[in-house]
Amino acid sequence: MRLADRMSSIGTETAFEAAARARALEATGRSVVHLEIGEPDFDTPANVREAAKRAIDGGKTHYPPFGGIPELRAAIAADSALRRGFEPDPADVFVTVGGKGVMYYAILALVNPGDEVIVPDPGYPIYESVTRFVGGTAVPIPIRQENDFRLDPDELASLVTPRTRLVVINSPANPTGGVLDRSDLERIAEIAIRHDLVVLSDEIYSRILYDGAEHVSIAALPGMAERTIVLDGFSKTWAMTGWRLGYGIVPGWLGHGFGRLLINSVSGATSFAQWGAVEAISGPQDEVDAMVAEFRARRDLVVDGLNALPGVRCLRPAGAFYVFPEISGTGLDGATLADRLLNEAGVSVLAGTAFGTVGANHIRLSYATSRENLAEALRRMATVLEPLATVGAGPR
Ligand SMILES: Cc1ncc(COP(=O)(O)O)c(C=O)c1O
Repeated sequence: MRLADRMSSIGTETAFEAAARARALEATGRSVVHLEIGEPDFDTPANVREAAKRAIDGGKTHYPPFGGIPELRAAIAADSALRRGFEPDPADVFVTVGGKGVMYYAILALVNPGDEVIVPDPGYPIYESVTRFVGGTAVPIPIRQENDFRLDPDELASLVTPRTRLVVINSPANPTGGVLDRSDLERIAEIAIRHDLVVLSDEIYSRILYDGAEHVSIAALPGMAERTIVLDGFSKTWAMTGWRLGYGIVPGWLGHGFGRLLINSVSGATSFAQWGAVEAISGPQDEVDAMVAEFRARRDLVVDGLNALPGVRCLRPAGAFYVFPEISGTGLDGATLADRLLNEAGVSVLAGTAFGTVGANHIRLSYATSRENLAEALRRMATVLEPLATVGAGPR
């Protein structure tokens, strides 16, 4: 038996594998604090759960329209008008199985073999994986701590070639928490227009912002709606990871192809889950506000705690629920440190290399877990890092 050739180019998301490793260790009786998976620990708000239950009991258990139920497409369009300042035609909104679905369809629909896709490094690994899967070339754009984990538009311009088709941006970002500001986005938009590029704007963390940071969608900038695919969803904002619901807002010219991909893959996202999502996006938002406030307190706890550890330098990101500290001062690289933290201290984090090559001296921690767990993780990390510092294992 043999696999199709293309299977040699598909990648993965290391977080799931790291979680499996951590659980295997737990199965041997060891205690593990999980900071590897980007999943809110909160329950989905009760009003959202109730809406989905009502939908099941009300018979909303049949195939939905492939692009999503009209009520949800309209609610997403209205939310976009409110939060992004641009109101798409509901017909250009496609409800997908997870925000990930948008990534997959966008790249399948746009990238020919040999085409180039500019992806953030460090960045969410699936952009690169799917690009390679369809025969494209992922061109990494370095995202540096020195630049507050913001993409440098001049560097972006220097990477564009006649083969460039798509640019992926992600703000707030996984794994860094970095946020692009309006001027960054204006410059990226100018490059996209000048070179006739499409932008995949992954805005899945756009509701999780701190300290007054503003979410600007590149799709709302002049001339950009017709060349931007917005990716957003329900997993992070409303703690709905298991519902598997996301959405894309696509330019009119892409809608037909996008719909065909949906029909060819999943026929549409789960109908009663979509009714829950209508309530999530248009019902009361106080639980979202409370979750974001709690994430902010956790961010401060984790950033302050990490910066108190020897050899660790951690920025205070303005969005998402990740930190991406630089750890070369420990004398170890990110992969070695991640292994040692798991095996010696029972703290599961990801190596920076799970997100590209630029983050080799970083680790990623998700702080979507309780303050108690975070405090315990920091205490355990100190037991590994303090002895390294005393033996002078590396520059401080
Ligand atoms: C940057 C980014 N985009 C998209 C996704 C996918 O989210 P979903 O659970 O909606 O598929 C994730 C999930 O971790 C993410 O971090």
